[in-house]
Amino acid sequence: MKIIMVASECNPLCKTGGLADVIYSLSRELVQNGHDVTVFLPYYKQLKNKGLNAEYKYYDYVDMSWRHQYIGVFDYQVEGIKFKLIDSEQYFGRDGLYGYDDDGERFAYFALAVRLIIHREQMKPDIVHVHDWQAGMLPALMKGAPLDDWKAHFVLTIHNPAFKGYLDKYALGDLYNLSDDMYDSGAVRLEGMVSTLKAGIYFADKITTVSPTHRNELLTPDLSQGLSNVLEFRKDDFVGIVNGIDVKEFDPETDTRICKNYSKKAYKTNKKACKEALLDFFNLPNKDRPTFGLVSRLTWQKGISLILQNAHYMLDRGANIVILGSGEGNLEAGFQSLRDLHPNQVGVYIGYSDDLAHKVYAGSDFFLMPSLFEPCGIGQIIAQRYGTLPIVRETGGLVDTVHAEIDGFSFAEFNPYSMKCALDRAFWVYYDDKAHMDQMVKTALSLDRSWKDSMNKYLQVYKEAMQK
Ligand code: GLC
Repeated sequence: MKIIMVASECNPLCKTGGLADVIYSLSRELVQNGHDVTVFLPYYKQLKNKGLNAEYKYYDYVDMSWRHQYIGVFDYQVEGIKFKLIDSEQYFGRDGLYGYDDDGERFAYFALAVRLIIHREQMKPDIVHVHDWQAGMLPALMKGAPLDDWKAHFVLTIHNPAFKGYLDKYALGDLYNLSDDMYDSGAVRLEGMVSTLKAGIYFADKITTVSPTHRNELLTPDLSQGLSNVLEFRKDDFVGIVNGIDVKEFDPETDTRICKNYSKKAYKTNKKACKEALLDFFNLPNKDRPTFGLVSRLTWQKGISLILQNAHYMLDRGANIVILGSGEGNLEAGFQSLRDLHPNQVGVYIGYSDDLAHKVYAGSDFFLMPSLFEPCGIGQIIAQRYGTLPIVRETGGLVDTVHAEIDGFSFAEFNPYSMKCALDRAFWVYYDDKAHMDQMVKTALSLDRSWKDSMNKYLQVYKEAMQK
């Protein structure tokens, strides 16, 4: 099958979150199974700074009403995945990936450029797979204002429903050259605005999100973040497929970033060595204490406040807490002051480091992930792969991937008390029921979280989309 992926980030080129992992590892799995995959990405400044050996192909222009904008097209390839990088100094020559006042305009330009390139190069893919709000408008563009008579088929994946891609109504004509009819008919309208995510839901042939439980949440008014009405109309074309992980990158048997390798058969000594190395890195002296790790963006979505609220209790019970991440200032400050109060039990690294992330996954006993909402979540799956038991809130993909008392711990209500009950279970198995803990670690280490099953489910969705 010939597949085009359109997204705003992809490993190993540019990443702010799990989206980048998914685009890369799903594409790679498809390529390894004989499919032809091209990923469209903005040629961000940080990507240029990496000094990629991307090949310049040609330039062209896209019109956005009165704007006449240059696009440069570069080709690149990683592990058989083809990339089309869209170059614009004006839109992508910036320090960050997003967070600019004109993000709506930047990704309108991106979608228009993708349409132009697909047409100009006569790519004729079987499927165009668009991800999140940044690419959500492409089906509306290519179906509502096609450049040729080739019929495209689209799949939209919702990774993060909190971001709707809201734009003022006038932007439809001003940025996308689309007529107001699309707004008036309701096709791209949400809450009195244009929403590029809503547009994707309306125009895509099939819609997916990244776990079955999150699919059901998105159809439930209270949990859907405002999307249940829209999705109700597309219910029959809407499926949940849980993300896999890159089992080669995250493999305790071969990982060169951790101090000693281990497997299900013999994990105890070497996992313990990984724990000691991690605690040494943070100068934490108590090596025999239960160690709780966190690798996360520090943001409200991730339920970080629940960790801070339980931290003193955990420390009283002898825990070490190790934090890796960055994000909202008050959460960063919360962990920093916790470390200042308890320098022998708390380690904090504000920022991101792949290297250290691997060490936290391998060296912790427990992995904290008390998210408020979590479409899929990747950290908990990686933790399990390293035999580190996740403690999660029962939401979205966390429900589908963590089974209480079997391969992790979970709690239902988003409040500190509910989380404390799950923490108590973790303390219990660590201090008082070592046989059960051993059993759980072994179960986690045996899980198969490769992309194979999920890729087959995507292929099925692609086939169904092509029949539309
Ligand atoms: C978003 C979601 C996360 C999911 C990831 C990849 O970041 O918040 O739950 O794992 O996308 O699909």
